[in-house]
Amino acid sequence: MYDFKEPWKEKIASVINTLLNEAGINEQITSLQIIGENPPNPEMGDIGFPMFGFAKMLRKGPPQIAQIAAEKLVKVIETEKTNAKVSAQGPYLNVQMDRGNTAKAVLDEVFKKTDEDFSFARTGSMQNKKVMVEFSSPNTNKPLHLGHLRNDVLGESISRIINAVGAQVRKVCIINDRGIHICKSMLAYKENGSGKTPESENVKSDRFVGDFYVSFSRQLKKEADELIASGVNKEEADNKTLSMQKAQEMLRLWEAGDIETVELWKKMNAWAIEGMKKTYARTGVSFDKYDFESQTYMLGKDEVLKGLEKNIFYKQEDGAVAVDLSEEKLDKKILLRSDGTSIYITQDFGTAINRHKEWQFDQLIYVVGSEQQYHFKVLFILLEKLGYSWAKNLHHLSYGMVNLPEGKMKSREGTVVDADDLIDSLRDMALAEIREKGREEVVGDPVEVAEKIALGALHYFLLQTSPVKDMLFDPKESLSFSGNTGPYLQYMGARISSMLRKEQESGVKDQMTADFSLLVTDQEWELVKIIADYPFAVNEAAFNLDPSRLAGFLYELSKAFSRFYHECPILNCEDPLLSKTRLELSRAVMLILKDAFNLTCIPFLEVM
Ligand code: ARG
Repeated sequence: MYDFKEPWKEKIASVINTLLNEAGINEQITSLQIIGENPPNPEMGDIGFPMFGFAKMLRKGPPQIAQIAAEKLVKVIETEKTNAKVSAQGPYLNVQMDRGNTAKAVLDEVFKKTDEDFSFARTGSMQNKKVMVEFSSPNTNKPLHLGHLRNDVLGESISRIINAVGAQVRKVCIINDRGIHICKSMLAYKENGSGKTPESENVKSDRFVGDFYVSFSRQLKKEADELIASGVNKEEADNKTLSMQKAQEMLRLWEAGDIETVELWKKMNAWAIEGMKKTYARTGVSFDKYDFESQTYMLGKDEVLKGLEKNIFYKQEDGAVAVDLSEEKLDKKILLRSDGTSIYITQDFGTAINRHKEWQFDQLIYVVGSEQQYHFKVLFILLEKLGYSWAKNLHHLSYGMVNLPEGKMKSREGTVVDADDLIDSLRDMALAEIREKGREEVVGDPVEVAEKIALGALHYFLLQTSPVKDMLFDPKESLSFSGNTGPYLQYMGARISSMLRKEQESGVKDQMTADFSLLVTDQEWELVKIIADYPFAVNEAAFNLDPSRLAGFLYELSKAFSRFYHECPILNCEDPLLSKTRLELSRAVMLILKDAFNLTCIPFLEVM
């Protein structure tokens, strides 16, 4: 990709070197030491180069350096016969570029790529790095919810982005399919669901399992309330309920391999997972590998016992295995329960070790909510203590909570909202809008288009906020066609597609070749500069593991396109060559939209 700052950096480095030579100073710089900034207002030029860094070397003040460097640079560019302008402004050397020439260089580069191989952003800053990305990682007791949707799109988008800059990526998901949570659904099913199936009830299979979890929770609360009323301590009430004791007994039976329990467990997990996979398919999320806690927790247990032997861990009086992390300024942490059963962290030892054995990653990124920061801190420290040197390459990408505005949408439990329900309702809202605008005929399949708008709205909204921040998902706002939303971006894509279709139908300018050096108005120039910035935006998003950088880029690009579209006649331009050229500029914008949409999981729409 053409970096229009690069030739200027080289020219300026050479001017500074001349100044150093002339002053008899035995030093030289390279273009890497030249920094280009965006001037605060466009009248000052396109790039500002601060001269502070050379003051010590040249024993002159930065404004003075800017002054003499500008004089020398003017002479250099005179010989190039372009429209570029150079001036000194305080400590800055400002450059106004030759718009036409630069536009041509930038856009020629864009069109070197073919539509299929439009690998714009593939500049290779993570070339050959093997990165494993764990995300989503659901429990099998209930369907995916809004929190998973944020996790899923972060994981999927980050994987695509780092792949775009050269990383070899392996996407993994751990299914937490064992433990007390699934026993709760199993118990409720055993007691009031036997014989029923998702098919017999005509319910999506993960929802079917989740409904039993909800009914367990209701029953548990009833029992706990009764115990509290009879004087039992609030904290202990849950554990003392008959339901909880039955669930715990079920977990013991499961760990002992009881056939009937294991059969039921298999059946319900299969339902849960089958349903989740449908949601993944619907949202465009996929994995290279699924790990299952039930298959790694024993290995984790062995590791904990090894650590106990090596005195890294210790046994408490009650028999539980724990670790003292006061040296690391952390608490003590239990690793195995007193009855020998494993807890949540136990399996993570086994899972990580298995993963590294199977695929020796340079980095493993866990996309998991911020409430688990302590968990991962402890996990990484302990793996290192256990002697796994690769533990230093583990990274917790911690993201904030996502909530719905009060009263906007309630789930069955009143707290979280199911992913499917949320997408359904976004789709229905989009569909209503398509109908209201009378665009059913135009869009072809209104339900399919509405679904794509829903996903664009959802994914863009979720990625727009940087991962660390908590956020509020506002369904209505996310769907708005104006403003900083997914549908607004999709609309730009559809608008360009429509122009290109019209042009193709008329076929008038088919044989013409665009002349990008004609692109010199402010609006055109702004677009060209943003286009040239695309690979940098992708690299920045990759480096920071933060798709919001790319979301910001997409919004800037779309706004600039919108200004251009309103100010510069395209199809109606009287000069046919300029018309063709502007159309090709629009096509370049579309190619970048498509590429960046793919990296941010926003469906591209030809019509909407
Ligand atoms: N299933 C877990 C939960 O619901 C998240 C798993 C995160 N990944 C991990 N390797 N521990 O909290």
